[in-house]
Amino acid sequence: MADTGTQTDGISRAEAAAAIARSVDLDPQRIPVHVAIIMDGNGRWASSRRLPRIEGHRAGREALRRVLGAAYDVGVRILTLYAFSTENWRRPDWEVSALIRLLAESLEAAGDIEELRRYRVCLRASGDVAGLGDAIEAQVHAIEAQTAEHEGITLNLALNYGGRAEVVAAARDLAASVAAGRMTAAEIDEDAVTRRLHTAPLPDPDLMIRTGGEQRISNFLLWQSAYAELYFTPMMWPDFGRDEFYDALRDYQGRIRRFGGLDVG
Ligand code: FPP
Repeated sequence: MADTGTQTDGISRAEAAAAIARSVDLDPQRIPVHVAIIMDGNGRWASSRRLPRIEGHRAGREALRRVLGAAYDVGVRILTLYAFSTENWRRPDWEVSALIRLLAESLEAAGDIEELRRYRVCLRASGDVAGLGDAIEAQVHAIEAQTAEHEGITLNLALNYGGRAEVVAAARDLAASVAAGRMTAAEIDEDAVTRRLHTAPLPDPDLMIRTGGEQRISNFLLWQSAYAELYFTPMMWPDFGRDEFYDALRDYQGRIRRFGGLDVG
């Protein structure tokens, strides 16, 4: 059944989100639609506590749950999270296997994850999901199908994702279409590329957050982040939570977005 997004106590979802936004000093009219996050610092968080690195990733999964709730509460519509990059394969085998196991375990338990129901999460994945193995691919597609009608918030997991590889795949697909006579080279425009990216049909991110102190994009949403506001914080991802997410949103609301034009406001 399609989810109307209307709450049972008679307050609409939009009104509830606006009230929560105002309570944390956010302008409800300027909540970013799409927030992308590079969840960095799990390993350092664990090492500083003399824990195995995988415990950092486990704690990172809890941070993800907190941020999902925080985003839903103020009306963010889409969260894209960098969960596994194409570059992560360069890590030692034990860490790659542990990360993939954590992912598989989380997907298996998805039916019991309370947040997915409570926030009416539409889960989807961007990336070469097939490259993570048949089992994970099947799990991802099953959850995508089960949650496709959910309208609370879209949780887009970037899995086995690389921004350059994504643009190359789009270019190949366009070249094949031209070679087959389905389109002409002159018909290749920004929309034609955008439609072929893993993130289609999601809109571009308005805000990109990176935790863990590094100030770079690391091959994440290269095309899509052309006009995203960037927010870097030294906080390690497992320590990131609701307050820190709202700090980032308040910072975003202080920016003037010109999209290459002039500020005529
Ligand atoms: C970067 O930290 C983080 C990752 C490579 C993985 C992120 C994964 C999670 C938060 C778990 C998500 C779980 C699900 C189910 C989606 P790092 O290891 O590079 O940290 P470091 O820079 O301190 O070494």
